Amino acid sequence: MMARMRPQIHALLCATMVFLLAWGVAMGIVPETGQVGSKGQPTFVRHFWSTSDRHHYKLSEDGEGAELVLDQSSAAGFASKTRYLFGRVSIQMKVHPGDSAGTVSTFYTSSLSGKHDELDFEFLGNEPGKPYVLQTNVYASGIGDREQRIRLWFDPTEDFHTYEIHWNKEIVIFMVDDTPIRIYKNNEDLGVPYPSRQAMSIFASLWNGEEWATQNGAIKLNWSNAPFVAAYRGYEVEGCEVPWYKGDIKYCQSSKVDSMLKRATIHNLTTRQQARLQWVTENLLVYDYCKDIYRYPTPHPECSRNSGLQIIGPQPLKHLDGLQVLGGSGTSE
Ligand SMILES: *[C@@H]1O[C@H](CO)[C@@H](O)[C@H](O)[C@H]1NC(C)=O
Ligand SMILES: *[C@@H]1O[C@H](CO)[C@@H](O)[C@H](O)[C@H]1NC(C)=O
Repeated sequence: MMARMRPQIHALLCATMVFLLAWGVAMGIVPETGQVGSKGQPTFVRHFWSTSDRHHYKLSEDGEGAELVLDQSSAAGFASKTRYLFGRVSIQMKVHPGDSAGTVSTFYTSSLSGKHDELDFEFLGNEPGKPYVLQTNVYASGIGDREQRIRLWFDPTEDFHTYEIHWNKEIVIFMVDDTPIRIYKNNEDLGVPYPSRQAMSIFASLWNGEEWATQNGAIKLNWSNAPFVAAYRGYEVEGCEVPWYKGDIKYCQSSKVDSMLKRATIHNLTTRQQARLQWVTENLLVYDYCKDIYRYPTPHPECSRNSGLQIIGPQPLKHLDGLQVLGGSGTSE
């Protein structure tokens, strides 16, 4: 339900990307080895293709960051030049202040297949004075519908914060500034699909999601506040690369990459990280597909294993290591 508009923009991003890829290969820009550009290039030049024109994708002067711009003429996005099967990706992001209702600012990974895998951060804009909602979602083998939504413990429009995805054979962990906000374990033993068979590219986008994004679509985007801007910088990736040509998915699934993945990604949360995840779950979670009995009278089988409420026990944690709930009232969306 929530991603109704999503396929259109995603299809656009993918189509643009495939076109750019073909063009890049034709122009000799993408070496067959799959090495992405030269190490000397600025991060955003080395790693990304824009899927927008220069008015909607604004590369910073030093090439270490970019802004996406949404106005009535176009949405905006960028996509990684290569793909990975497992690894860690992170980016710093600052979203549009003031009235952002109807907008969706994203950072996500996705495979380009029909039954695709996808791991999402989606900032759902809001009316002035109301906080953004950060939605995460997990698709595996084309099946999504696993949304969780939280409020943040800071204002994501004021400064850059780090949004990070750890992805290995055992677990997916969504992190915000070193605080885990969600885990999704490999529960294939329960028959639950897990993203482990397809390489994924990295994407960011800013688009009009007014049909669903803000208060379930009740609040529409107000174009008199355009252009809307989402800023990105500090991109990092460490993963098992699967180049478009000579891409070897099997290598990334083999035990040969285990030590790399162990170094690059988190497999098990420390006690401190578990406490933080529990704190987020208790204080900031505003929607959880696992608790949506109207949509799912029978909860998904993985729900109990992925709960953030695991170790700390019955005492709700209101404050933790400097983390503090903003505002206090429950008006989230
Ligand atoms: C749209 O934004 C403008 C400028 O901020 C404001 O004057 C107007 O009332 C808004 N329209 C709606 C429908 O909220
Ligand atoms: C993580 O913990 C689980 C049990 O909680 C254990 O089976 C697994 O081996 C651990 N993984 C790593 C990489 O330490």
